[in-house]
Amino acid sequence: MQDRLLPPAPASLLQGLEGLAAALEVVQPLRARHRAQLPGEVARLSEWLTTARDELPRDYLSRPALLSAYLYYFLPWNLFRQGRLLAGLDLQLAAGARIVDVGAGPFTFALALWLTRPDLRSVPLNYLALDRAAAALGAGRRLWEQVAAGSVWKVDGSAQPAGARALPPADLLVLANVLNEVHKPGGGDREVDTDAAARLLERWGQSLAPGGRVLVIEPGTRPASRQLVMLRGRALELGWRVAAPCPHAERCPQSGIGRQPWCHFAFETARVPGWLEDLSRRADLAKERASLSFLLLEPGSPGAAPESGTSAGAGDDMPVRVVSGTFALPAGERGRYGCSARGLVLLVDRNDGTTAGPQSGDLVRVSWPADPPRDAKSGAAILRSGRLSSGTVRRARRTTRP
Ligand SMILES: C[S@@+](CC[C@H](N)C(=O)[O-])C[C@H]1O[C@@H](n2cnc3c(N)ncnc32)[C@H](O)[C@@H]1O
Repeated sequence: MQDRLLPPAPASLLQGLEGLAAALEVVQPLRARHRAQLPGEVARLSEWLTTARDELPRDYLSRPALLSAYLYYFLPWNLFRQGRLLAGLDLQLAAGARIVDVGAGPFTFALALWLTRPDLRSVPLNYLALDRAAAALGAGRRLWEQVAAGSVWKVDGSAQPAGARALPPADLLVLANVLNEVHKPGGGDREVDTDAAARLLERWGQSLAPGGRVLVIEPGTRPASRQLVMLRGRALELGWRVAAPCPHAERCPQSGIGRQPWCHFAFETARVPGWLEDLSRRADLAKERASLSFLLLEPGSPGAAPESGTSAGAGDDMPVRVVSGTFALPAGERGRYGCSARGLVLLVDRNDGTTAGPQSGDLVRVSWPADPPRDAKSGAAILRSGRLSSGTVRRARRTTRP
């Protein structure tokens, strides 16, 4: 199991993103007029994909100008986000594993995995991209030829609307940035629809091979995270297991409901290539941080009881997932929030100026005091570094359920 969920972007990913501009020039060349219009199209599509989702045209990736906007802006940013996650996530992909990517767009997940995990390049994997937009799949196929020519992976695409037929058998089912478009299991500003989530889980479970998993990745926004939290709750009720990121199977303390924080992971974007920074700036979408929410789910065995939470009591070795960046506190201390079976935790240590301490996504183990003080702002239990195992924060060996 990986020590960290979000290790720094590997060199192969940064190099791949640098080279993507040239590959896109081949796959989706732009005339001078279209190049000049690109930032405006990116801004328009960004609004549709975020704040004005109800206006998003159904066939947006079949329209050349919007497909170009997606390929030149959204694809590289999604590669960066997904790459950060895939660098550390233990996906257990063995030779012959079948990855089915629902709402795949231009093969984003395959490209992210290829760029991020050079160790998997010699492992024969099967990747099937499903999407209703044939134009996006076509662009993905051409891009794959540019980026991973001669690869041993078997990569294919099939144009079909989600839900039209049963999902093909899969060892890893991927849904990245599509839950809102393909399915509407509730959450966000809508009423939570747990029935839709149950139907979705049943459909996914039917396609999974024994030991198979579902990876759902969404933007790190409050509405998207709320949807995932609702899906997680239903999955646990139905006997599924959350392999990541949760360190427990209790109620989520970051539901995003009301004033509660929402579960997401954010990271710096300082190392993205200049061409992408430049386009982002011209579209008025420059960003210093990128974020995502995700769930890696495993179906329970038939007839198994629903997963129960951890039973860690006072003084136990309690796993805590760090879910925020580090921030300064008064009197030379610093903190970061963590998620535990006993709710939100504020991990505090002294800023000695030399060690970074645990980072967003890390799993640490803490010794739980009998009656910890509470943070007035968040209600989180305050745990000082003396309470972290080994005297200082140490990264745990497992990132999945203890
Ligand atoms: C925001 S894009 C995400 C693409 C890719 N997964 C990524 O992360 O970059 C959403 C994709 O879902 C596809 N899509 C939306 N609704 C769909 C449906 N009902 N059936 C199949 N594909 C759908 C769109 O065509 C689009 O390619």
